Amino acid sequence: MGVDALIPGKEEIYRALELISSWGEYHPSPLLFAPGLAQHLGIGAVLIKDESKRFGFGGVKALGAPYGLKQQLLDLGLVPGSADCTRFTAVAATDGNHGLALAWAATKFNCRARIYVGKDVNAGRVQRIRDNGAEIVVINGTYDDAVIAAENAARDPDVLLITDTDYHGGIKVTRDIMAGYAVMGIECARQLADTRQWPSHVFLQCGVGGMAAGCVLGLWHESGRKPDVITVEATEAACVKQSLAAGVPVSVSGQLLTRMVGLSCGRPSLPAFDTLKTVARGSVAIDDTTALTAQTALTRGVGGDGPLDCWDTGIAGLAGLWHVAQNPALRVGYGLDHNSTVLVVNSEGPMPAHYARPAELLSTDAMTGQHPRPQLQSLEEPAQNSTS
Ligand SMILES: Cc1ncc(COP(=O)(O)O)c(C=O)c1O
Repeated sequence: MGVDALIPGKEEIYRALELISSWGEYHPSPLLFAPGLAQHLGIGAVLIKDESKRFGFGGVKALGAPYGLKQQLLDLGLVPGSADCTRFTAVAATDGNHGLALAWAATKFNCRARIYVGKDVNAGRVQRIRDNGAEIVVINGTYDDAVIAAENAARDPDVLLITDTDYHGGIKVTRDIMAGYAVMGIECARQLADTRQWPSHVFLQCGVGGMAAGCVLGLWHESGRKPDVITVEATEAACVKQSLAAGVPVSVSGQLLTRMVGLSCGRPSLPAFDTLKTVARGSVAIDDTTALTAQTALTRGVGGDGPLDCWDTGIAGLAGLWHVAQNPALRVGYGLDHNSTVLVVNSEGPMPAHYARPAELLSTDAMTGQHPRPQLQSLEEPAQNSTS
């Protein structure tokens, strides 16, 4: 693939793999197959890279911030976790999971964490970050305003900006964080090779686009094959879709409100956009009703599949697939049919029940993931619940 100064290169993403895979908590996340869902949607196969249990934090974002912070400390000549790290405060903006991952990482590496959030951020998510030791600063604005506030805070020499978005290009830690997400893509490419499969379509949810771009880089470098990506966003915050249409990053205005709270972003990260523009065959924006319908169905299990441990943001890629597969014009437009093999990422697991607000639980307590239920089959294990 082409070289772009903003995007982490092959060496950087394999360095991330080497470092992250040396951590005691590391295990590759499973690649699941969902034959009941595929049959329900009238497509050949659905493969789900399931990040719901990553590092016990239940989300792909846990691959990014810890690696980014560790690299920053190493770049300063510090031993991560040593007493010298205590004078540093790691800061970032978040709409949920990046801040949680950074709070966890700061504790692990003996720093403090200060997380900036917009005023409409989910209260349960904020409390969870606080409970992981971070100070919270609420900005009277959106996630994008919180990004600027975190950047301003980093003028202090004892503050380390661990931002997962880079609006203008050139922020090294954002490259490192994308390299961390690329580990998921490398794992996935290896699992696909083991099972001799390659997706005809990859549906990837985007906030600022970093997770999707990292996944693409890992898939592409490991397999040597360029994935065909359809980006998925919330209708109210479709900045990647609008930017891809414009050919340059653009901002969307408004409150960016969506139940897919991690996608509540108004402007793409430049290195992520530069990656996605080379692989995106299209973009879809979905509404909250579609997301909730897909989440509820997947949580219960579709067509004989076991239930999926999923939550409001992590479900978005699957909800995008759900939307396209059930719309005849979009099916034709994206060439989705009985021969298609679709890859999606379930990018987070359920919030622990005590952080979830009642409105988020819908009518089923299975949404909390507290009930022992049969799981979807891992591709590495023999199939037991295949319905196709
Ligand atoms: C679970 C989850 N999935 C996907 C995303 C989107 O990631 P990005 O903002 O890097 O596009 C987020 C963002 O916070 C998230 O929390």
